[in-house]
Amino acid sequence: MSESKTNGGLPAGRPLKILAFVGSPRNEESWTWKIMVRIEEQMQAIQPTEVEYIFLKKVSVPYCDGCLTCVSIGESSCPEFATIGPIAAKMDAADGLILGAPVHTFAVTGLMKNFVEYFMYKRNRPSFFGKKAVVTATASGGGHTQVLDFLEGTATAWGCDVVTRLGISSAQMRKPAYVEKVDACVREVAESFINEINKGELGSPKFGALMNFRAMQNMTRNQKDSVNYKFWKERNWLDKEFYTDVPINPWARMMAGYIARKMRRGIRKGNAKPYR
Ligand SMILES: Cc1cc2nc3c(=O)[nH]c(=O)nc-3n(C[C@H](O)[C@H](O)[C@H](O)COP(=O)(O)O)c2cc1C
Repeated sequence: MSESKTNGGLPAGRPLKILAFVGSPRNEESWTWKIMVRIEEQMQAIQPTEVEYIFLKKVSVPYCDGCLTCVSIGESSCPEFATIGPIAAKMDAADGLILGAPVHTFAVTGLMKNFVEYFMYKRNRPSFFGKKAVVTATASGGGHTQVLDFLEGTATAWGCDVVTRLGISSAQMRKPAYVEKVDACVREVAESFINEINKGELGSPKFGALMNFRAMQNMTRNQKDSVNYKFWKERNWLDKEFYTDVPINPWARMMAGYIARKMRRGIRKGNAKPYR
């Protein structure tokens, strides 16, 4: 069974469908949204594109209560499934996703963090293979890398190929020389997003994605009666080197396999050490 999605067959004439998640509490006032709109404008200049913005502040869900029933029973058992389910369906239907958030105290906003917690099941049972994603971060000064890494890691764990990332310094947006550079980056982001969607090929995983796969595989192998085990077994992932059959860098593959075996030995012998 495969949910690998390639867009090589994107019907001609229909606009690209992008779903964009705005992780700033400042909604339409936010630089997070304004940068996404600039990306949309540049995409529109290349090819008809429809972007639906989901302002996370307006998505009315409480803090994830950590019940983990989405993982252990199934996503529809989430107490907030009435809200999360339709958003998940929109993500499924989109050609591409944008995840954007400001830096708050050198980390992703609580708003974005809480939202992605509702998609923990998707990290366990990913399905967005071939779906392209872009991640963005805004900060007045620093912390972009932490947020971009978090958003990229999240989208990748869901199965997406993160095409590119963009971090901007909002305090610099009053300086024309800086704005010019941002505009050039935005054009590049829009171009590569569209190119990758149109190509519709599966992206080759980075080492971090291979390791994430191996960690999930080790965990799932040890949960024989779980929903995850059934899902992984049906897809023959329990003995594979990655979710999809995309060619993998041989060194990265070997290294990931070696570390995974070490991890398994450690788990078996119970010799993991507390983190210090
Ligand atoms: C609670 C809070 C914490 C912040 N922490 C940081 C920070 O760690 N580093 C930084 O450069 N800017 C920080 N900022 C500034 C925002 O990242 C900056 O204003 C950003 O442009 C806001 O994005 P937005 O316009 O999309 O809401 C913080 C702002 C707030 C409200």
